[in-house]
Amino acid sequence: MPFPIHRPRRLRRTEAIRNLVRETRLSPHSLVYPLFVCPGANVRDEIKSMPGNFRWSVDRLVEECRAASDAGVPAVILFGIPEKKDEVGSDAYDPEGIVQRAVRALKKALPNLIVLCDLCLCEYTSHGHCGVVKGTEIDNDATLDLLAKTAVAQAEAGADFVAPSDMMDGRVARIRAALDARGFSHIPILAYSAKYASGFYGPFREAADSAPQFGDRRSHQMDPANQREALREIALDVEEGADIIMIKPALPYLDVIALARREFDVPIAAYQVSGEFSLIEAAARLGWIDRERIILESLTAIRRAGADIILTYFAKEFARKLA
Ligand code: PBG
Repeated sequence: MPFPIHRPRRLRRTEAIRNLVRETRLSPHSLVYPLFVCPGANVRDEIKSMPGNFRWSVDRLVEECRAASDAGVPAVILFGIPEKKDEVGSDAYDPEGIVQRAVRALKKALPNLIVLCDLCLCEYTSHGHCGVVKGTEIDNDATLDLLAKTAVAQAEAGADFVAPSDMMDGRVARIRAALDARGFSHIPILAYSAKYASGFYGPFREAADSAPQFGDRRSHQMDPANQREALREIALDVEEGADIIMIKPALPYLDVIALARREFDVPIAAYQVSGEFSLIEAAARLGWIDRERIILESLTAIRRAGADIILTYFAKEFARKLA
């Protein structure tokens, strides 16, 4: 008979003891801070549905990254809002494209900051789709060439990682081959491997003005109902050469993170996406939740499920608290 011999409450009696036996610890070392960069100078344009997040011009982005880095954030991921969008997303792979300019400025000012580049065409295409549109369909194989070109442009600008988020089939292999052919065999790929077709990306699409002009992303992003399929997507990306795999969104897909942790030995990232951020901020503004407590609990849950790395809009604010 366990009780009264066993009393789990003995280890919960004081904060010091709870600290001693804690299984999951958060650290600023695992945080990646997502940022939006736009043309112009001295721009700091708040995103309405993501309070505290801004579209930054390159000059102000550098300052924000310096502050994040000083707070202990080791890495940022960049999303570009180009001056002009077109059918084929040219700004994504233009050497003078917005993200390439931002990377060059960041690596010059803050050489130790890890700079990841989100790699997708949807922020750059006039129709808002993640690839080349033929009729009403996205042409997978025609898109791969443009993704590969974008990866090379990002690496040439100085990106430390490329992070394909487009969910085209075969893109990791194609990007790997393109990088290797241009002397970038040392640049790792963080693949958004299990990226679900999620309503939680709503605020991001306002931020990047990237909502599809017709249709949706269900022909390439995953069905939220599927778990086994995530393992298959991850296995394919690992075979194709992904160095880190990602699951996105995070909190609604903890089961997928936990399963991936058991099945794969590569580092796992999880993206606490814009909608996850905005839900917390909105409820906090209404006074309905304890904001800090919920943020810490959410980040802890994502780590506990098995994520090594967390992309979160709370990174800059929380890095110091987690140190
Ligand atoms: C695509 C991309 C998206 C996000 C990250 N990369 C948007 C989408 O797929 O519609 C969403 C991130 C977020 O919601 O915070 N480039």
